[in-house]
Amino acid sequence: MKKLHFLLIGCGRISKNHIAAAAENQSQMELVAVCDPIVSLAEQKADSLAEKTGSRPAVYTDYKKALEELEIDCCAIATESGYHAEIALDCLRKGKHVLVEKPMALSTHDAQLMIQEANSRGLKLGVCHQNRFNAPIQELHKALEDKRFGKLVSGTARILWNRSMPYYEQAPWRGTWAQDGGTLMNQCIHNIDLLQWSLGGEPETIMAMTGNYLRDIQAEDFGAILVRFKNGAIGIIEGTACVYPKNLEETLSIFGKTGTAVIGGLAVNRVQTWNFEEPAEQDNHIAAMAGTDPTDVYGHGHNSLYADYIEAIHNNTQPLISGAEGIKALKIILAAYQSQKTGQAVRFDDLEFSTLDMTDSDVRYHCEEAIQ
Ligand SMILES: NC(=O)c1ccc[n+]([C@@H]2O[C@H](COP(=O)([O-])OP(=O)(O)OC[C@H]3O[C@@H](n4cnc5c(N)ncnc54)[C@H](O)[C@@H]3O)[C@@H](O)[C@H]2O)c1
Repeated sequence: MKKLHFLLIGCGRISKNHIAAAAENQSQMELVAVCDPIVSLAEQKADSLAEKTGSRPAVYTDYKKALEELEIDCCAIATESGYHAEIALDCLRKGKHVLVEKPMALSTHDAQLMIQEANSRGLKLGVCHQNRFNAPIQELHKALEDKRFGKLVSGTARILWNRSMPYYEQAPWRGTWAQDGGTLMNQCIHNIDLLQWSLGGEPETIMAMTGNYLRDIQAEDFGAILVRFKNGAIGIIEGTACVYPKNLEETLSIFGKTGTAVIGGLAVNRVQTWNFEEPAEQDNHIAAMAGTDPTDVYGHGHNSLYADYIEAIHNNTQPLISGAEGIKALKIILAAYQSQKTGQAVRFDDLEFSTLDMTDSDVRYHCEEAIQ
């Protein structure tokens, strides 16, 4: 089968995972060009791929020029979050498949437009929620599909990490309403995606309290969210960038009538509890997945995510994390923002919201008085 030609748009910090995935999947794809207005970053990524595969991609500073000059099948977008929608729509309208970093967009309007544009053109839109491919998470999903949990009661997603001011100062777009959102949108979205995927994938009502306690950014550095799902299960999310002095854990817990699973560690890679009423052959093997933490919290899931995305293009099926899947975690977070702004519960299906709608909301709780 013909190798798919990819263009990588955005060569910042996460792009190393895209380069690694391109090398890992080189039998199925060729990363023919990398693009960043900061040419030195694009050159570095081109060198890095050449080292891994022996083949150096072309370097561009303008993705539109690359699209004009090269034969591209798929665009992988890894720019600042605030540019995802505009670039994705450009690429889709030029007939290219799009794999976009999380969050897929910063508003319900933009995300829905991306999904419509892809569907109407028969193109594949994928979103990088790579933790769905972590081995213990795949086993958890199989146990859910096999109904081993019985009636689902609840689940918790805890993202207890530290992001200090130097982290935000390193990339000034972070923590802004126009380009990023707060810790729920940037760091916690992965585990929020896992929670909603595990609890049935159909959120109904969202209530939240968020705030900015410690970091000098516009958006929240802490958030607590409750999600009622249409099947009745309740999801509880605790997300923070304020843990002293360093990352503590990213944990997903799922509780059903006949099963409990807790997958934690630094970035949802380690099985901590795996108890089911009905034992299964694979349980001992799964329980032994106490595992090791990945070298960084990005994990290694991009390799499998690319493989799944390429397969979806070849088979004309949907990738595991299509646009319709990727929008769910985004909407839970946008609903949480609206709930913080209005003090009201938000119905998931009715939501129309953007991070920009938070621009006039002061979420700061910096004064001692305010939190007493
Ligand atoms: N999946 C994950 O685990 C994960 C982890 C980290 C970041 N991310 C996401 O990846 C995205 C990038 O994050 P980052 O930390 O790499 O950011 P970054 O600031 O390090 O890199 C972004 C790069 O995009 C480039 N860029 C901007 N406009 C461009 C354009 N028009 N064409 C080409 N390049 C352009 C910038 O010059 C910059 O080099 C964000 O959306 C972030 O949320 C995902």
